[in-house]
Amino acid sequence: MQVLFINAGAKSSGATQQILLTAQNALVPDVTSQVICLGERNIGFCKGCMSCYETGTCAQRDEMESLMDAIDAAQVLVIAAPSYWADVPGQFKVFIDRCTVYGDTNPHPSHRALRSGKVCYAFALRAGKRPMECEHIIGTIAYWCGHMNIQLGGSMYF
Ligand SMILES: Cc1cc2nc3c(=O)[nH]c(=O)nc-3n(C[C@H](O)[C@H](O)[C@H](O)COP(=O)(O)O)c2cc1C
Repeated sequence: MQVLFINAGAKSSGATQQILLTAQNALVPDVTSQVICLGERNIGFCKGCMSCYETGTCAQRDEMESLMDAIDAAQVLVIAAPSYWADVPGQFKVFIDRCTVYGDTNPHPSHRALRSGKVCYAFALRAGKRPMECEHIIGTIAYWCGHMNIQLGGSMYF
């Protein structure tokens, strides 16, 4: 089994990364896993050109495709997102927007979609105390899962 831990924050030196590394350390030995940080990937923002609806692929060439290869290779995803202004960090939103190629709203008959059967666990964290912001972030991850044919296995916030 492969587990992909996605740090949806800006950096791999903060609390988000620590939470994911702690979860990774708890895995049984025969599970392969890696932790990636979206903020350290070169992923350009969606230009809204909608050419992916016409062609089934994105016009931009950056790290998005290799990232989706890693996501598709995993059976389990763990996404952790910190609160930035009571919402997901910008690079995570950029990533979600770029998933317009892969999601179930893309009408192109041969657009790339993820293999079925994946499960995602969602973590959210923030500096403040009230849970509302974290619930919103988990809702965003759940919405993404819904359109990517991924089952939300559970969620937790810090
Ligand atoms: C740009 C920015 C905006 C933030 N906005 C909020 C916020 O609205 N609410 C909150 O509770 N924490 C906010 N925080 C704090 C982060 O959620 C918190 O420090 C978190 O640990 C950051 O993750 P990291 O340590 O992995 O970078 C913000 C942090 C940054 C950098």
